[in-house]
Amino acid sequence: MCGITGYIGNKLAYPIVINGLRRLEYRGYDSAGIVLNENKNFKLFKTKGKVSDLEEICKGLKSDATVGVGHTRWATHGVPNDINSHPHLSNNEKIVLVHNGIIENYDTLKIMLTSKGYTFKSDTDTEVLVNLIQFMQDTQKIDLSTAVRLALNEVIGAYAIAVMEVDHPEEIVVARLSSPLAIGIGENEYFIASDASPFIEFTKEALYLEDGEMANISLKGVDVFKIKDNSKVNPIIQELKLSLEEIEKGGYEHFMLKEIHEQPKSIMDTMRGRLLVEEGIIQMAGIWDYQEKFLNAERIIIISCGTSWHAGLVGEYLIEDLARIPVEVEYASEFRYRNPIITDKDIVIAISQSGETADSLAALKLAKEKGAFIYGICNVVDSSIARLTDAGSYTHAGPEIGVASTKAFTAQLAVLSMIAIKLAKHKGTISKEKFNSLITELDSIPDKIEKLIKSTEEQIKKISLQYENVHNFLYLGRGYNYPIALEGALKLKEISYIHAEGYPAAEMKHGPIALIDENMPVVVIAPRTEHYEKIVSNIQEINSRKGKVIAIVTEGDIQVKNMVAEAIEIPDVSECFSPILASIPLQLLAYYIAILRGVNVDQPRNLAKSVTVE
Ligand code: F6R
Repeated sequence: MCGITGYIGNKLAYPIVINGLRRLEYRGYDSAGIVLNENKNFKLFKTKGKVSDLEEICKGLKSDATVGVGHTRWATHGVPNDINSHPHLSNNEKIVLVHNGIIENYDTLKIMLTSKGYTFKSDTDTEVLVNLIQFMQDTQKIDLSTAVRLALNEVIGAYAIAVMEVDHPEEIVVARLSSPLAIGIGENEYFIASDASPFIEFTKEALYLEDGEMANISLKGVDVFKIKDNSKVNPIIQELKLSLEEIEKGGYEHFMLKEIHEQPKSIMDTMRGRLLVEEGIIQMAGIWDYQEKFLNAERIIIISCGTSWHAGLVGEYLIEDLARIPVEVEYASEFRYRNPIITDKDIVIAISQSGETADSLAALKLAKEKGAFIYGICNVVDSSIARLTDAGSYTHAGPEIGVASTKAFTAQLAVLSMIAIKLAKHKGTISKEKFNSLITELDSIPDKIEKLIKSTEEQIKKISLQYENVHNFLYLGRGYNYPIALEGALKLKEISYIHAEGYPAAEMKHGPIALIDENMPVVVIAPRTEHYEKIVSNIQEINSRKGKVIAIVTEGDIQVKNMVAEAIEIPDVSECFSPILASIPLQLLAYYIAILRGVNVDQPRNLAKSVTVE
């Protein structure tokens, strides 16, 4: 949801900022822009399109500027075009600003500024903010930092901003509220970015601004203080664990393909130090330290969005089935606005890859206010959700850069599996033998994924060739694999732009069956589990209407194989772990169909990796 980056130091700023924008492009790719302060002159370039389009218009640029900021945009206010692209200049062209977030009261502020004679070129809320900063200076004769602070005190909304003043190339002012902002600390140089990826090769030291904080960054250092009252803050400097390798494609054509292939490792990383098969334990401090709360919880409410919501649904099956604790799964965006009933006996679990999703964050704040114990399952360490929660478990899947979530999703499933099995053990709802067999099996999942990818990728590539030009897909699953049908459909639609719907298989007869004819491919997740015979009947119903079935089956399956156009085998596994395995061929299917359709799968249209607006 927009990426901002910047540099101040002794090196040339342009290559550092452009490279930073390339790394942040997953956050938004409608437009891109950069501004350099060269000897007290702004050199500003911006364009609709990708960072590569920005590079094209900057071709041949020779700039010795050592300070600059850049932006990659996911449009909120105003269509993607050159004028709405960031950076935005104030009317007097002395102040320039890049912004990630939304200024909710921009309309009121714009009316006030217009009445004072300020004019606007763009449709953005950001241009209102930069002029509000100028207004503060015009009326009070104050420095940039004070003007930014006073302006932000008038603003309602969410922001991470970086601001520069033409006459003061020695300083960048940044601020944050509900949108992330990291400051990389080098030797006599500082980096700004929405996440640490733009500066990882320059420094391992960073500080993350907290909500309501701002900072003045100059060659002399970083001063952090509160936006509200200007009080000084002593920031905590952190050691970054991220490596350059993790954020590069490593020989794969796309991040998404790399991330699909990384799943044996990412799930191993998720379970490392937690799933201790030889000792016969699951070690999760977040759960153990609050075991009384978990064991006495009257209800667990899982809140999340998109793919993470699908993980939540699998979590519901896992926790209810194994630990016998009632679970409700809610879209964060609905939960936050529907006056939910929450008590201090409830545990609210937020699942979020980015840890920054605005709806999830707001829902969690609401649950906290109402007295619930809140638990986070996040991938991004130190993200806003991770910091808000009372306790939590990181998924440790490593940076996920492809916009469509793959490895973060299966890592979420692995964490939820461990939580459910651990709670089941302590609640006594499963036997010791069952516990041991479940953890042994969970431990074998990474190897099974490795084998699954090896044995099915070529087959899936071939299957994709037949479906490049279809307009619709239906995905069906039952029980634990109903959420995987939803996830398979979401994956396909978001990266191939083919309309796809996921359904519980038994619901097909209540409506979607009307869609089935020889032109309707139906993906049926049909591993040999408790519902096998039922799903066989569903496949028969599709066959009778000439639908084309692609089935996900357990290896060695014959019955379903003989009934369908295509059968993709996954290793035999207990039903509760089958969602992890069944997800993988569906990710590959979506990927290969999208590639044939010429979509940039890492950056599908209209999407952004972390949705920091509601
Ligand atoms: C789809 C996808 C999205 C996210 C959703 C929530 O592939 O990635 O649906 O799952 O935007 O994001 P997080 O998990 O970061 O809260």
